[in-house]
Amino acid sequence: SIEACLFDLDGVIVDTAKYHYIAWRQLANDLGFDLTHAQNELLKGISRMESLEIILAIGGVKLTDEEKLQRATEKNSRYLALCMQMTPADTLPGVRAFLDELKKGGIKIGLGSASKNAKVILERIDMLSYFETIVDGNRITIGKPDPQVFLMGAADLAALPAQCVVFEDALAGIQSAKAAGMLAVGIGEKAVLTQADIVIPGFADFHFQDMEAAFA
Ligand code: G6P
Ligand code: MG
Repeated sequence: SIEACLFDLDGVIVDTAKYHYIAWRQLANDLGFDLTHAQNELLKGISRMESLEIILAIGGVKLTDEEKLQRATEKNSRYLALCMQMTPADTLPGVRAFLDELKKGGIKIGLGSASKNAKVILERIDMLSYFETIVDGNRITIGKPDPQVFLMGAADLAALPAQCVVFEDALAGIQSAKAAGMLAVGIGEKAVLTQADIVIPGFADFHFQDMEAAFA
């Protein structure tokens, strides 16, 4: 039976994915090239510095380590400035209700995110208190698609991987969940999240019973 649910943050709890894209695209434009929506899709779930490396490869731009750090810091400042405009109303539709249902059902709740800004953002949208554990970019040593982030979350919650359901909008995140031996719910499109056990467009029409039925 399902004991715990582990949630990605960006693009699952809150639509920060659009702010990441704005800030990365600005960085690319500053360096003289563009970043398409499809290219941005590949950055979801990927750490800040790894994302920068991918973007620089796309643009064929070489930077020194110091310049890389500078650009990444600048990107993060822009990104955080956009995030600070958010309010609790920016929590994605149905998320709060779904987490309330999980709580009532006695399911443990954890966060599994590559972001180093996870706590700040959860505070901003007033969702921090829902999570019994937070595994974020400050704790992990290997990013998605490696299973570490979700295995740490399961261990924190004293749940077996097979009893965990992961909610993810990123290809790398679904791969991470499956590598951890967990059930994976994709948030987005089936065509993109091919390895997910089920894919839903969001939480607006998804309830505790739907999850139990899907994995019965
Ligand atoms: C999440 C997002 C990525 C982001 C990463 C690191 O996984 O999906 O787009 O690059 O977190 O976020 P950070 O807030 O630490 O730059
Ligand atoms: Mg995400």
